[in-house]
Amino acid sequence: MINGKKVLFSGMQATGSLTLGNYLGALKNWVNLCDEYECFYSVVDMHSITVRQDPAVLRQRARNLLMIYIAAGIDPEKNCLYYQSHVSGHAELAWILNCFTYMGELNRMTQFKDKAARHADNINAGLFTYPVLMAADILLYQADVVPVGIDQMQHLELTRDVAQRFNGVYGDVFTIPEAYIGKVGAKIMSLQDPAKKMSKSDENPNASIYLMDDPDTIMRKCRRAVTDSEAQILYREEQPGIRNLIDIYSSCTGKTPDEVVKEFDGKGYGDFKTAVGEAVISVLKPLQERYAKLAEDKSYIDGIIKENAEKAGHTAARTLRKVQRKVGFPDRIRS
Ligand code: TRP
Repeated sequence: MINGKKVLFSGMQATGSLTLGNYLGALKNWVNLCDEYECFYSVVDMHSITVRQDPAVLRQRARNLLMIYIAAGIDPEKNCLYYQSHVSGHAELAWILNCFTYMGELNRMTQFKDKAARHADNINAGLFTYPVLMAADILLYQADVVPVGIDQMQHLELTRDVAQRFNGVYGDVFTIPEAYIGKVGAKIMSLQDPAKKMSKSDENPNASIYLMDDPDTIMRKCRRAVTDSEAQILYREEQPGIRNLIDIYSSCTGKTPDEVVKEFDGKGYGDFKTAVGEAVISVLKPLQERYAKLAEDKSYIDGIIKENAEKAGHTAARTLRKVQRKVGFPDRIRS
């Protein structure tokens, strides 16, 4: 508990450009969580270097992501938005937790297997222990809840196992985190292959709408979205392309899928796709405008970065000191 509220932690990597899927599925739903939870949203730049990065690009993307958090409506006065690398406790706790995590557990991680296959020339130890750093992120803040997608559930399970193992030895040190199951955002699929999730790493640029796409690009991508030859706008499994467009339209407008189906009853796919494009533009345009303003205000963003890193560091240090004492590291001598 911090300030009488339960703690929520989540992080995003700054690799690739965020998509409409990241926004509708995650960011947008994070905006109001601070009413109920003390929220920490980290830009997890330490996780990013498990694959090779161009330093200048990583630095810029990390800053852009922080500005996107704010542009998306996450208030930096009410939420802690910070860079993982600015709080050294993440690395320090990760080391300790490494000593409480089994090789066999890490070997089972499906994301490790996928990434190792994709980066066969650089299967480094950091990639292998990535989930331990993630566990450290979460446990350092004594998070009660973690909003994560299905692809990160295995890592969250591991976090719980490691925390329970540690608590089993040393007593109640860590809060055991749970997956956040509140109102979850729609899972947005690729516009070119509705069987796949919309992803920032998709090679086909038409598959994803990026948060910074201009209106013409957004409209063109929507109009090119893969559909079917049923010629009817219904919300059902058999029409995954149309179903995905209904999800997008419904998330952008706040209407339910049923209402969308009624609204477009008897209309053609062309009209519907145009309406979807317009709905997306009306959501992303204000976000882009806020982002452009933030990008001009260097000192404001710098202030946020500094203050929030201090705030995060403060909470992190409390947990870390406790853990260090438990495992037997000597107390520091203070004169
Ligand atoms: N591994 C997460 C992802 O790729 C990002 C992440 C790092 C994270 N640390 C976290 C998410 C802690 C939730 C909590 O999506």
